[in-house]
Amino acid sequence: MTDSPSRRDFLKGAGAAAAVGTLPLSMVKLAFADPSQDFTFAYISDSHIQHIKGNEFVRNWDRGLIRAVAETNLLRPKPDFVMFGGDLAQLGTKAELDHGAEMLAKLDHKVHMVMGEHDYYLDLGEYWSKLFGDHYYSFDHKGVHFVVLNSILTFDEWTYERWPTAEQRMLEMAGLDNPNGSPFMVGEKQREWLRKDLEKVDKKTPLVVFSHSPIQKIYKGWNFWTDDAEQVQALLKPFDRANVVYGHVHQIQYNQIDNISFNAVMATAWPWPYPQSYAQADQHLPVLTVPMNRADPFFERDATGWQFIDVATGRVAMDYNLYNNTNRRVAFNAAKGHPEDTSFQDPARRIAPQVHY
Ligand SMILES: [Fe+2]
Ligand SMILES: [Fe+2]
Repeated sequence: MTDSPSRRDFLKGAGAAAAVGTLPLSMVKLAFADPSQDFTFAYISDSHIQHIKGNEFVRNWDRGLIRAVAETNLLRPKPDFVMFGGDLAQLGTKAELDHGAEMLAKLDHKVHMVMGEHDYYLDLGEYWSKLFGDHYYSFDHKGVHFVVLNSILTFDEWTYERWPTAEQRMLEMAGLDNPNGSPFMVGEKQREWLRKDLEKVDKKTPLVVFSHSPIQKIYKGWNFWTDDAEQVQALLKPFDRANVVYGHVHQIQYNQIDNISFNAVMATAWPWPYPQSYAQADQHLPVLTVPMNRADPFFERDATGWQFIDVATGRVAMDYNLYNNTNRRVAFNAAKGHPEDTSFQDPARRIAPQVHY
């Protein structure tokens, strides 16, 4: 297991010292047994760019993304690429997607995009595709197979028949706890594509799947959920080491289901609290450690961090560096066979959320 680097290692150069301690993005490093193969990528997610009127946008969400982009450009070593984890827009409009794309265009890196439900349900991803390309795809990079899924699809009846306007459909899916919403799914067509895509990949190859919703069932009421999660997981099972990294939940989550490690990334817009039923769930789900609520929900920088992936062990280790908050590390515990919070997993070591600031 490679030691995780400090943020100081990543930010070099004039002006960077001021930024240390406030890095608003996810930094991911893939460490191999042969260090010459190590590489890093950055991960930014859930910016929720929201149009007000004319050329006005919600300032806090703009600032979150602008800052993440600016600081990504300062990272040394330079990340090989940047992932954007979905929910670039709030209501999927051209104005929001254009504005978000314009901010992302300032990155000095290749960017791979993941579709979020806030990007999709106005025009079913049509304009997003014009800007960013395919809704799902795969690529190989330095010995790792990466897959990007569009995990936020749902039943055809809900998508095509239930709502009188596209705007209403978007609003119904945009709510966190709206009973008119519908469970997310990858869907049969895409699962068949995934099966074929993975067929040609050696099962010893480290596999990293990016999705927007978790490819597991956490809490249906808030759509922290993918309805066909088990069927997607079955396709990942033949691999020695499979990892799913997802956005959407705007909080630290981690889990282990068979050979698959699950890790969530932070948002640049805001954090969600942990749903209570998640804490009570009696199943594979991780034990909650420190809840993700915060004292000042309008302090937009509090929802962000960077993570470190160690593929020498075949598993994801996430270092979350949080603003105004205690840093967290979630790493794979080989003895126990699942990820855990290295500081707060032991119930005796947990602290109240408000002491956490
Ligand atoms: Fe989101
Ligand atoms: Fe989302």
